[in-house]
This record gives sequence, C-alpha cells and structure tokens, in this order.
Amino acid sequence: MKTILVTGGTGYIGSHTVVSLIENNYEVIIVDNLSNSKLEVLNRIEKITGKKPVFYQISVQNKDEMRQIFEKYHIDAIIHFAGLKSVKESVEKPDLYFSNNVGSSKVLLELMDEYNVKNLVFSSSATVYGVPKRVPLYEDDPIGGCTNPYGQTKVDIEILLNEYYKTHKDSNIAILRYFNPIGAHSSGLIGEDPQGVPNNLMPYITQVAVGRLPYLNINGNDYKTVDGTGVRDYIHVVDLASGHLSALKKLEEKPGLVIYNLGTGKGTSVLELVHAFEKANKIKIPYVIAPRRPGDVDENYANCDKAWKEMGWKAKLDIVDACRDSWRWQSKNPNGYDK
Ligand code: WQD
Repeated sequence: MKTILVTGGTGYIGSHTVVSLIENNYEVIIVDNLSNSKLEVLNRIEKITGKKPVFYQISVQNKDEMRQIFEKYHIDAIIHFAGLKSVKESVEKPDLYFSNNVGSSKVLLELMDEYNVKNLVFSSSATVYGVPKRVPLYEDDPIGGCTNPYGQTKVDIEILLNEYYKTHKDSNIAILRYFNPIGAHSSGLIGEDPQGVPNNLMPYITQVAVGRLPYLNINGNDYKTVDGTGVRDYIHVVDLASGHLSALKKLEEKPGLVIYNLGTGKGTSVLELVHAFEKANKIKIPYVIAPRRPGDVDENYANCDKAWKEMGWKAKLDIVDACRDSWRWQSKNPNGYDK
C-alpha cells in the first residue's frame, strides 16, 4: 500500500498522521478546504519530514473536484479526517454538520466504488457511544443516543460504512473511535490551533498559560467522579497518529470492516489534567468553577484491548508527555499558525 489520500490532512490529527505516514515512506495526497486549518501546516510538515505533501484545497463534498484526484492518482487507501467537529457549533448548526460530515462521506464512498479503491480508515469519535451506561467503553457497546448533532453525524457515517461494506465485501474499512486527543509533535512545529475561543480543555489551558485567556472555567465540579470534575480518556495525538498507521497495516490483512477504540484506557479528571500541566511546565493555571456544559457526561474512557490484540497498537505516551508537548507547541506558537 503506497499512496494514501488524507482528507482533512492539514488539521490537528490529520497533520500529525501525515508526518507519521511520510516518515514511514507513504506517498501522501492531502485534500482539505482549510475551513478549520492553515496552509502553513504544509510548511511545518516539510520542516519536520523534509517532504512537502501534495495538497489540493478542495471540499470533499465537491464530487467533481474530488474526481480529479481519483482520475490523477492510483489511491491505495483513504484516511478520512475531513469534517466539522465542534460539539457546540453542531448544536447551533445541525444541518450544516449533517450535510458536510455525512455528505462528504457519501461522496467518498461513491468515488471509492467508481474507482475501485478498497481501503478506508475513518476518523470516528467516542461521542458515538452517547451517554455511557458504564465505563470503560468497549467497541461492541451500543452506539447512538448522542447528546449532540456532531456525535450523531459520526454514528450516521458509521452506519453508512456498514451499509457500504454489505455490498462491497472486498473492501477493508477501519473505524477508529478517538477519545480525547491532546498533545503535539515533539518539535513544537505542529499542534492544535482552534479557531476562536477553544471548546476543548487542553487548548484552553495552553491559551491561559500563554496569556491569551485570563483563566480556565471548569465546567462543573459536582459530577460523580474522583474529584467532581469531568473524567475523560486523554490520548496523545502522536499515539493517535501511530494508531492510523497500525490500521493501514491491519487493512493489508483484508480484515473487512473493523472497529477500534483509540484511547489510553485511563480516565483523567479536569483537575488532574490541570495539576499535571502545572507540574510538568511549572506554570500556574488560574481557574474558576463554572456551570456544567449541556451534554457533558460524568465519565468517558476506553477499553483498548482490541486494538492491542488485533493491531498490536497501544498508547505509549501519557498525560505528562502531552502536557509538556502541548505547552512546547503553544509557547513556540502563541498565536497558533498565524504569525
Ligand atoms: C473535556 C472535559 C469538560 C473545556 C469533545 C468531543 C469529542 C472530541 C473531543 C472530536 C469535560 C471540561 C472543557 C473547558 C472544562 N472531539 N472542560 N473547561 O467534551 O470530552 O469531547 O472533544 O472528536 O468528540 O465530544 O472534550 O475537551 O471539550 O472537555 O472544564 O473550557 O473538560 O466539561 O469534562 P469532550 P472537551
């Protein structure tokens, strides 16, 4: 398997995965509409790997434009990251999320069928499990009952992939359910660069640390958890990237449709992450206790035995590594990819 089409490849997880792909001698074609990422990421990928990936600024939903990629290149596999991913925005703009996320996946499957592309890795999310009945979460736990349209789009796409597989049994599809990605490449050259005020916890913490935000609002401290604050499974984005390479290798065994949780198997509370960040970087993070966020769950973390058993993949980095790496990225790039 040589040439990989990476949709959303200039994004946070996409860019880290592209670095790993290039370092493992894959040819990479990135398609991204730059709606939530910057062209500068390509220069940073080149600085890290010595190679600038082929790039097309295209919306995956645009079938005619996407067709030119399938006409021009022999694509061995697709890693599909492209999609809108703000839980909050999905509540405000559900139609946009369904047309963009589900619509683009439909276009990809139609083109895969037409051009006989057999391998797909799909970027799914722990939100597909909805409100967990218990933790840790296993891949055969029921999905659905999502607390937001973003999560529902991921459920709908997983259903689409299962339907597609029923009539394309010679395809190999890996659905990867990410938990909470944090951290950055050790070079500090690429990292998480959310537009506007961050929704997610770690970029909010690093923006407080670098002085862009005054203090952290901890959304609720009355959850049924170790210290009352929300517990999540924070996985280092570099481990997440390596999980995609393991999935590509797995697809070479022609497994059909497979599903894996990509997490650490460990839950960490908001306060534990804040304290780990403070200790790792010797920086104080001021915070206030704020009201709960609608849709937040008490606890959400993974059982990742299946990925280890079937792909030989497990997370190697921990939250201290992630706190250090996230800070190195943010302190070197106080305004993200903007100068
Ligand atoms: C984590 C914890 C918050 C911000 C979402 C998506 C998931 C994935 C990751 C895409 C919670 C608390 C947060 C803040 C806080 N995205 N928090 N103050 O909601 O677990 O998951 O992002 O795939 O699909 O659902 O991540 O980082 O927003 O929140 O106290 O300013 O931090 O309440 O307990 P979440 P998060």
